[in-house]
Amino acid sequence: MTSLVVEPAPGGLGGRLRVPGDKSISHRALLLAARAEGRSRLRGLSAGADVGRTRRAVAAFGARCQGRPPGPVTVAGGARRLHEPAGVVDVGNSGTAMRLLSGFAAAVDGLTILQGDRSVNGRPMERVVFPLRTMGAGVDGREGGRWPPLAVRGGRLAGIDYRPPVASAQVKGAVLLAGLAAEGATSVTEAVPTRRHTEELLAAAGADVTVTGTTVTVRPSPLQPLDLDIPGDPSQAAFWVVAACLVPGSDLVLEGVYVGPGRATFLDVLRRMGADITVVAGDPGAATADIRVRHRRLAATDVGGQEVPGLIDEIPVLAVAAALAEGTTTFTGAGELRVKESDRIATVASQLAAVGADVEPLADGLVVRGRPALGGGSVSSHGDHRVAMAMAVAGLAAGGPVRIEGWAAVDTSYPGFQEDLHRCLS
Ligand code: S3P
Repeated sequence: MTSLVVEPAPGGLGGRLRVPGDKSISHRALLLAARAEGRSRLRGLSAGADVGRTRRAVAAFGARCQGRPPGPVTVAGGARRLHEPAGVVDVGNSGTAMRLLSGFAAAVDGLTILQGDRSVNGRPMERVVFPLRTMGAGVDGREGGRWPPLAVRGGRLAGIDYRPPVASAQVKGAVLLAGLAAEGATSVTEAVPTRRHTEELLAAAGADVTVTGTTVTVRPSPLQPLDLDIPGDPSQAAFWVVAACLVPGSDLVLEGVYVGPGRATFLDVLRRMGADITVVAGDPGAATADIRVRHRRLAATDVGGQEVPGLIDEIPVLAVAAALAEGTTTFTGAGELRVKESDRIATVASQLAAVGADVEPLADGLVVRGRPALGGGSVSSHGDHRVAMAMAVAGLAAGGPVRIEGWAAVDTSYPGFQEDLHRCLS
């Protein structure tokens, strides 16, 4: 069992940091590059194991990938290259890979078997199975398609107008990817908007895609190769942003972070809590910016409703911020946390409590009563990268060292976390 001990950071965090390329964009860039006619160039892909799974998956479908992230990766793709994979496609710990690949596989003739690890086996899949079946794909899984592994028989698909019952960019992505090979138009209308990476990248690849209000419509169209610099991952930047808010003496700049729709909501929440954050965009309207954060004492807020999908991955670290803020912070409407890499309501509450925080789990969220200080202690990642990194942030701001068991989970998304930690402490 790997573990990491994080010591309190008395001098604060400083300097400039470039976080890894965005994970959500990386998965989609690989999948669209595999379908694009010609050679795509992707710079700054996430080097985490999750994106590595998607890369291996597109190779199993026939795309040719060369180069090592975060350095440039070329992907030679195209409809004529794609075929059913010869073996089972293993997505490891990545629910995103499983769901996006189910839509990708529906658009490829033949059979694809998708499996993952124990955590992925507990991630609900009917949310993608139902719309893909409605489009004409043959999809099955355990308990009639509720759980992985999934068997997807791709082939003749028909477009649908779909209104997902859960706010999920993965569902939107899976349906739109299938829509690339469906007869007629495929639309997804969201009750609550989610991150827009699928539609943004479809547009960048020259697909016939339109966005009207909260409806995205795609029609079958050949894709052009992508030539892409993947921006920094805001969900990874969030760990450093919260750490710099909490640790006295901090003055840290995160460079080149994606701050487009559906991803920067955690900054709004921290500002509401009184954080000292400046966002400097490269160009007016640019989706990438530098974020400067200086330490300042935080106050409680309420997080819920429509803002939740835009910060669902940041709630573990926002709970750390709340644990040290003045007053009581509530997170509600976040039941989806229960079906992430771990049951994040249970794991965040129990692990924060282990370092002295006052946290009460709710069915769909958390109540966090802020305290002036946290103590050291021993905690577990529960195999969840974001729980591990959130607890590392708690360790930086705590009164004593925090040992995080199961630290290896961080490799799924941020294998360079420890180096970046040393960089902003030195
Ligand atoms: C993701 C969407 C979110 C998020 C996940 C990545 C994506 O999940 O939690 O880490 O890349 O589309 P949902 O689609 O289930 O909300």
